[in-house]
Amino acid sequence: MSSARPPSPAGRGGPDAGEPAPESRAGSPAPEDRAGAPAPGPEGPLIGGIRLAAPFTLAPMAGVTDRPFRRLCLEEGAAMATSELASAAALSRRGKVTRELVRRDPEAPPAPYAIQLFGKVPAEFAEAARYCAGELGADFIDLNFCCPSRKVVRSGHGAALLRDPGLCLRIAESSVKAAGVPVTVKARPGFSPEDRPEPVIFSLGPALAETGVCALTLHPRWAVQAFGGEADWSMVRRLAEISPVPVLGSGDVDSAALALRRLRESGVAAVMLGRAARGRPWLFAECLALWRGEPVPLVSRDAVRRAAARHARLLESERGPRAVYVLRSVLSWYIRDLKGAASFRKRICSAGRIDEQLEILREAFLEDPGDPEVSPEAPERLPEGASGHCAENARP
Ligand SMILES: Cc1cc2nc3c(=O)[nH]c(=O)nc-3n(C[C@H](O)[C@H](O)[C@H](O)COP(=O)(O)O)c2cc1C
Repeated sequence: MSSARPPSPAGRGGPDAGEPAPESRAGSPAPEDRAGAPAPGPEGPLIGGIRLAAPFTLAPMAGVTDRPFRRLCLEEGAAMATSELASAAALSRRGKVTRELVRRDPEAPPAPYAIQLFGKVPAEFAEAARYCAGELGADFIDLNFCCPSRKVVRSGHGAALLRDPGLCLRIAESSVKAAGVPVTVKARPGFSPEDRPEPVIFSLGPALAETGVCALTLHPRWAVQAFGGEADWSMVRRLAEISPVPVLGSGDVDSAALALRRLRESGVAAVMLGRAARGRPWLFAECLALWRGEPVPLVSRDAVRRAAARHARLLESERGPRAVYVLRSVLSWYIRDLKGAASFRKRICSAGRIDEQLEILREAFLEDPGDPEVSPEAPERLPEGASGHCAENARP
């Protein structure tokens, strides 16, 4: 889809040796000058003993990061993908629906795969972690201490756990003991500043590392904020300064330039991209190019249309004709910057067959072919993501 070079396979580090690190272009110290040795290219972070190919990963999004979407993002260079949110209770019982939800994609490019668990019972986390790592082939187990959805929180799961740090530690401890693969945590700073003004993550994070958790991802909004306001990256920086394990940051990164800035300014090991990658999986190729100091690949309107059509076909091959429902939102992501997007979106939503939706998609791009050489602009504001967050798959 893009002209960016395919990312290096996971575990091998960054690009070919011999390329200047982007830092050297920005005027910071040049790579170490070792006689005869080529200057090393940038290297992805080491997390729990696993080397990521690059410091840009796909954020978990329930109802969004299914196998087709993960595959598209990995093909564009995302260094790691995470499953949709999965119930530890259901997986501890080998529940068929949840098992299918988190099944690994055998055709995805090789990159580490994390399965994210939610729940509140340490023994269920332990059993689910053992199962996911052993039989479902997860490279990482990620513990969800961040989902703010009412349904999840009401059951004491997700971000509600932040109100009980002791329980978080017991969950982490039992998961680490059982998993046999690295365990990570994704959290909010705390539940509510009204409960406790000092974000609990600054004490909980180091304590989680002591249990053996090998990385922490912070989405720096209080859980009660859900997706309101702005992500406060000063909290990410502070966590990265005090954490004994690598920290990843997630929140409001909607361009490659911002991803690079967050990476450099906040001291994180990696930046997660979520909403901005919806309908724009090549955002990862753009991040990689900028990070490597290469020209950012241009994405023509026609390439966008082809990517949307491919996404549709991948979904169809996973879900059959029922993909028509999920395609209502998926195709809307790809056309959001086109002239007349609202009326095409309406038509896509009322179409009853996938072929019909693809025909409307073709018309939408015919009507607004744009500049064939130019990437669609980053959306000025990220689309709202709060509604439906975690709801689709939450089975507490
Ligand atoms: C629709 C949607 C579903 C999400 N589901 C999850 C989830 O299941 N687990 C999780 O840890 N975070 C979830 N998130 C949060 C994202 O991983 C990410 O932290 C957040 O959206 C901020 O990053 P962004 O601004 O790049 O989207 C979800 C976000 C959205 C928009």
